[in-house]
Amino acid sequence: MPIVRLKDGRQFEAPQGARLTLVLRDHNIDILHRCGGYARCTTCRVSFLEGEPHKMTQAEYDKLSERGLLGSVRLSCQILCEADMTVEPLMSLVSQGLDDPGERPTDNLTPEPVWRDRP
Ligand code: FES
Repeated sequence: MPIVRLKDGRQFEAPQGARLTLVLRDHNIDILHRCGGYARCTTCRVSFLEGEPHKMTQAEYDKLSERGLLGSVRLSCQILCEADMTVEPLMSLVSQGLDDPGERPTDNLTPEPVWRDRP
């Protein structure tokens, strides 16, 4: 099973192909997912220290482009854990002063993924 590591050294085994947001959330990592995993809000954003996937959903590409974030962050709701990775969640309840991270994303990718290479 892939290992997901955090910048602070914590690490978890991820079910093969699980959505990164869910792996983090299910290990009680404080990460937002305000749109419920639909590549709309960008609050599930992470930076990659190692193991950034080469593939990207078209929905992620379009949203990151729209927000001027392409090349600097990734949307964890659009990333599947298929290999080891080290990430840093960037928006949390604490950092944003919120009390609701957002609805739990479904186990399957939403919207239906169309894959492309990351730039
Ligand atoms: S973009 Fe909203 S949860 Fe990922």
